[in-house]
Amino acid sequence: MSEPAAPLQELEQLLADATGAIAQAQSAGQLEPLRVKFLGRKSRLAEIMKLIPRASPEERGEIGKRANQFKAAVESQLRERTVALAQRPTGPGIDVTLPGITTPQGRLHPITSTLGSILGLLTAMGFETIEGPELEYERYNFDALNIPRDHPSRESFDTFFVDTPSPEPKKGRLLLRSHTSPVQVRVMEQRKPPLRIVVPGKVYRPDPLDPSHSFMFHQVEGLMVDDRTSFADLKGVLDEFLRALFGANTKTRFRPHFFPFTEPSAEVDIACTSCSGVGCSTCGRKGWLEIMGCGMVHPNVFRAVGYDPERVQGFAFGMGVERIAMLKHGVTDIRLFFENDLRFLGQF
Ligand code: PHE
Repeated sequence: MSEPAAPLQELEQLLADATGAIAQAQSAGQLEPLRVKFLGRKSRLAEIMKLIPRASPEERGEIGKRANQFKAAVESQLRERTVALAQRPTGPGIDVTLPGITTPQGRLHPITSTLGSILGLLTAMGFETIEGPELEYERYNFDALNIPRDHPSRESFDTFFVDTPSPEPKKGRLLLRSHTSPVQVRVMEQRKPPLRIVVPGKVYRPDPLDPSHSFMFHQVEGLMVDDRTSFADLKGVLDEFLRALFGANTKTRFRPHFFPFTEPSAEVDIACTSCSGVGCSTCGRKGWLEIMGCGMVHPNVFRAVGYDPERVQGFAFGMGVERIAMLKHGVTDIRLFFENDLRFLGQF
């Protein structure tokens, strides 16, 4: 080892070497040998210290001072690097300057949330939610609902009949239900009044697709039966329901209509949600929007399920969920609900 001609210069060089080596250490295990190398008993520092007594008096003080500064600097670098390594996250390095990766948020389909509001309001009024099969027998979809064999809606163009032979021929052929009303019959066959039920579900009709028709859509059916339920109760329940759904100032109108399974029957309109009754393109210049069908349960329906029409009375109503969602959100084409375009669905 060469005799240090200029210990001060060598200390400077040693400090640069130590600083570089410490900065490059990747673990506490790599720091310990550096401490030994630069500060240990066999280090160049130790040798330089041994030279001090032999140095000239002027140099002595200076070398001692610089040697102490070197020692302090290397010790503090070792400490800082130890702390920095301990705080470094384990695993692959994380670049905190990279933009974050957002987790895409799911949301409810507008039909699901509209259905949720409808059922929420009706269950709060005491109606119990019940579901029924989409693959249905002619008996429940038609016969028991007082829809005679020769009624036009029986024709195959109005209903999807299913080829599979009926497992219960007495109940007629199998079909995809064209409304949720068959569940009224199923429940009344099983239970005695009083009844207060709501039935959500999919229904099917072979309509050609256009902005207001789809071969599958959703309905919510309501049925209330006891010994004294009247048309006034029907009006009260539906008025209350429609005002809760469309706003406290919603105007309603009950217009006489015909359904085979209710008598008397009505269609319920609300004042147009776009023009408040003045007349616009949404309501076809009529000022009113048809929102649901309803009526007092027909005595023949009670007879079909074994109820005595002299002792019970009740009302039923049915509404289309897509139509209500379209009116609530200003959607003008029913097909948008089923195309699964996230640019549309993400707006709800
Ligand atoms: N089932 C009828 C339809 O689909 C709606 C309705 C239900 C009407 C209950 C009256 C009573 O058009």
